[in-house]
Amino acid sequence: MKAVVLTQTGAPDVLQMIDVPVPNVKRGWVLIQVKAFGLNRSELMMRQYEGNAPYIHLPRILGIECVGMVADASDTHFAKGQKVVALMGGMGRSFDGSYAEYTLVPAKHVFAVDADMSWEQLAAIPETFFTAYGSLFDSLQLRPDDVLLIRGGSSSAGLAAIQLAKSIGTQVLASTRKEEKRQLLMNTGANDVLIENGTLGSQLKALYPQGVTKILELIGAATLIESMNLLNKHGIVCVTGILGKKATMDNFYPIKDIPSGVYLTGFVSNSPSKELIDALFSHIKQHAIQPVIAKIFSLDQLADAHSMMESNEANGKIVIVNNKL
Ligand SMILES: NC(=O)c1ccc[n+]([C@@H]2O[C@H](COP(=O)([O-])OP(=O)(O)OC[C@H]3O[C@@H](n4cnc5c(N)ncnc54)[C@H](OP(=O)(O)O)[C@@H]3O)[C@@H](O)[C@H]2O)c1
Repeated sequence: MKAVVLTQTGAPDVLQMIDVPVPNVKRGWVLIQVKAFGLNRSELMMRQYEGNAPYIHLPRILGIECVGMVADASDTHFAKGQKVVALMGGMGRSFDGSYAEYTLVPAKHVFAVDADMSWEQLAAIPETFFTAYGSLFDSLQLRPDDVLLIRGGSSSAGLAAIQLAKSIGTQVLASTRKEEKRQLLMNTGANDVLIENGTLGSQLKALYPQGVTKILELIGAATLIESMNLLNKHGIVCVTGILGKKATMDNFYPIKDIPSGVYLTGFVSNSPSKELIDALFSHIKQHAIQPVIAKIFSLDQLADAHSMMESNEANGKIVIVNNKL
């Protein structure tokens, strides 16, 4: 089969398509014919530097998610030809992932879906929408009467979060570093846009002097302390992203740094449950949500797709389709 294998970290052109054997089926794992998949920030980091970490063993076929059809169900409850999505659990990290025509994934990370969407549309959903959905409705316990700030609103996860929050009627503020992305955020459903230029706090306080009730923090540790101070009493911040390239916080002093009565939580998409995935897809169907797709590439254009993500100009989910789709 054709696959794009990471053999060393570096610029996007380290991603070259080569011929490799189709993975051997094994008990408890499902062989999926990959139809399409979404590109993820974590794959960018893997290609740039994380591939050198001691816990990553190259060569590795990257790709933490995919959509496709069951090619061989092995001894699992799936059936050949079933439409599935697969994500996480070490996919594309501790075992080979979706940058290929076929991928072998543990059954508990494979979910049957009956969504009536094209493969390209479906590919924009699993990781991005699961992350946004879990962050909003599980970790943040979002409700219609909340006022939500999404920091890093122009990321794919941010755009998905805007759509999901709007679908239940929540008031949504979204941030970007770039004034020219204001319209994208408004068109996606944001009520107001804040610019990450060092004055975000005062922009927010001008609109909501008491602060907001919920914050989805996709920039991460770099802006977390400020975010906690933009919440009203009993407000919740959920740290889901690390767009600000800072995963940890030096000298974090919880008693002083977390304002009294403010709640700090997080979300990690590593263990998707069937319940949450089913709830996500029925929510998307019920609210007729169409994912925002930036551009569709083919498997042999993965280097170009990575370059586009690196430019920060994608404005939506980057989707890769199998050349033989
Ligand atoms: N917790 C989890 O399980 C989980 C799962 C999925 C994703 N994530 C994380 O969620 C975040 C979003 O992922 P994604 O795939 O949706 O990203 P993405 O679509 O690639 O996001 C691109 C946008 O991020 C913004 N950005 C880039 N560098 C930034 C910086 N230094 N400071 C502020 N904003 C910056 C830019 O927006 P502007 O130019 O408009 O400012 C850019 O357009 C990432 O940190 C990712 O690792 C976490």
